[in-house]
Amino acid sequence: MRSVVLVGFMGCGKSTLAQALAERLRTPFRDGDAELAKRAGRSIAEWIRTEGSGPLRRAETAWLEEALAGPRAVISPGGGAFTLREVREQCRANAETVWVDAPLRTIRRRLSGRSDRPLWPEDPSEQRRMYDRRSAVYRLAGFRFPIDPALDPGALADRLLERWKPREH
Ligand code: S3P
Repeated sequence: MRSVVLVGFMGCGKSTLAQALAERLRTPFRDGDAELAKRAGRSIAEWIRTEGSGPLRRAETAWLEEALAGPRAVISPGGGAFTLREVREQCRANAETVWVDAPLRTIRRRLSGRSDRPLWPEDPSEQRRMYDRRSAVYRLAGFRFPIDPALDPGALADRLLERWKPREH
């Protein structure tokens, strides 16, 4: 089986699900935000606040290319990476892609009051627009996994493995 890339909106639970999935598939887990923040020596939020999202997107693209070329892994890039056509093409050509689809109300609940997602708008109608725009892109992943927000990451990983029939799995 090829590497697995989880895509989805910020706050949908990609990283925790990826970690649980990696344990079950006995493969390494790679987290884009964590690895890039470590390399940059600052948090992703601080990076975006000082330089905008452009430099982060370029770094994410290079990081993903490297991750996809490496040993099989469950890979969790930041939620913005898949919005780039180049990244989508890379992922779809070299990995299984799964859209971790969480309802907007869940995203709102999880992100409200947090300061670590500078791109998340405050205005509810802008939140809705961003969510809809992004969903149209995440839909291009190979498999859509609608999550039950009440389940913990381990139970979600078990459910994903029951439902998902990736090629070469
Ligand atoms: C972003 C998602 C975040 C992080 C940054 C930008 C986005 O990652 O990379 O705040 O544009 O969707 P998560 O998806 O892990 O929250």
